[in-house]
Amino acid sequence: MKFAVFASGQGSNLQAIIEAVQRGEIKAELAVVFSDNRKAHALKRAQEAGIKTLCLCRKDYATKQSYDRSIVIHLKEEGIDFIALAGYMRILTPFFVKEFPKRILNVHPSLLPSFKGAEGIKDSFTYGVKVTGVTIHFVDEKMDHGPIILQEAVKVSEEETLESLTEKIHKVEHRLYPKAIALFADGRLKIKGRKVEILNG
Ligand code: GRF
Repeated sequence: MKFAVFASGQGSNLQAIIEAVQRGEIKAELAVVFSDNRKAHALKRAQEAGIKTLCLCRKDYATKQSYDRSIVIHLKEEGIDFIALAGYMRILTPFFVKEFPKRILNVHPSLLPSFKGAEGIKDSFTYGVKVTGVTIHFVDEKMDHGPIILQEAVKVSEEETLESLTEKIHKVEHRLYPKAIALFADGRLKIKGRKVEILNG
């Protein structure tokens, strides 16, 4: 199977995925890294790893749908089977999601359904939660909503700062996301309504 990673920024999750592919833990080819942001550090990481990059700017398209359509055309040309969103800061149109049904994964830095949105870590820290975490889920038409694949809790200590919590969360993401992608690539994830069953390998 061939897959693409979508990233808008730093790309630390992308890096963890690249390394898991290199170690042979994810048995799929990371064929394309896509970004909506020319300055994304993620694109540099991809180039350094010898992975093809694609960058399209939303402002060059009249509508969200024409933008997404153009991305889909490129992905289909590359023979992409599934997509891992890793810090991709745009909401995919229903059109896009329908083109890759149950074939888009996302990492979110909170225990969904709590603290959806772009500021999952900051919002949960500011709210004063004692436990937060990481969620890996399938993407559907609603934001941060699709069936949950893996979740792991992270404790918020008395001395916690936003910076230390961010670091803890990222550490878990970098372990959990490659694991979920590997399960998907091995055909071990079965979606039943909102539930995701993990089949034995
Ligand atoms: C991660 O915390 C991810 O959960 C969220 O955006 C952040 C991306 O970080 N969706 P990076 O670009 O992978 O370093």
